[in-house]
Amino acid sequence: MKSIVHSFLLAAIIAALGAGAAAADSANDIKYRKAHMKALSGHLGPIFMVLKGEAGDKSHIAAHASALANVAMMAGGLFPAGSGTGDTEALPVIWEKPGEFEEKIKALEDATAKLFGAARKGDMAKIGAAAGAVGKSCGGCHKLFRKKKN
Ligand code: HEC
Repeated sequence: MKSIVHSFLLAAIIAALGAGAAAADSANDIKYRKAHMKALSGHLGPIFMVLKGEAGDKSHIAAHASALANVAMMAGGLFPAGSGTGDTEALPVIWEKPGEFEEKIKALEDATAKLFGAARKGDMAKIGAAAGAVGKSCGGCHKLFRKKKN
């Protein structure tokens, strides 16, 4: 009898550990995703500041554009199944309409690649237009796939 109680206890402990591990994983997935989103704005924001002449130097733009394009290439991997609940503004529709979501990822990749191309050439007019298009690609996804902030 005692051993049956023990095995029940053991099973309960294992189940609790398993649930804990799963919760911790999705919390980390969300944290990881948010860190990358912040990195995107951490590179796009300075580009706009330089373009407006608020701070920095034109020579900084290419490095930020390069970083932006690199982070954008990871964006598709930041939404694993199970990372839609918890401390997140990601909407369930991301996992319900993966095709439409994928288009927004692609738009971000394309826009950031184009900005990097313009930045390497140093053509300020093209950089301005391309940075605006990157901003639109962010907003285009947020509008449909991120919870509105109240
Ligand atoms: C394909 C969709 C998509 C694209 C493109 C996208 N985002 Fe996001 N972004 C999201 C989602 C979804 C969230 C909510 C993430 C969460 O709370 O788990 C988010 C959250 C954020 C946040 C808040 C992070 C936090 O700490 O809560 C910032 C800042 C952000 N995005 C900036 C950007 C910028 C800048 C761009 C463009 C360069 C961009 N995003 C492009 C989907 C996208």
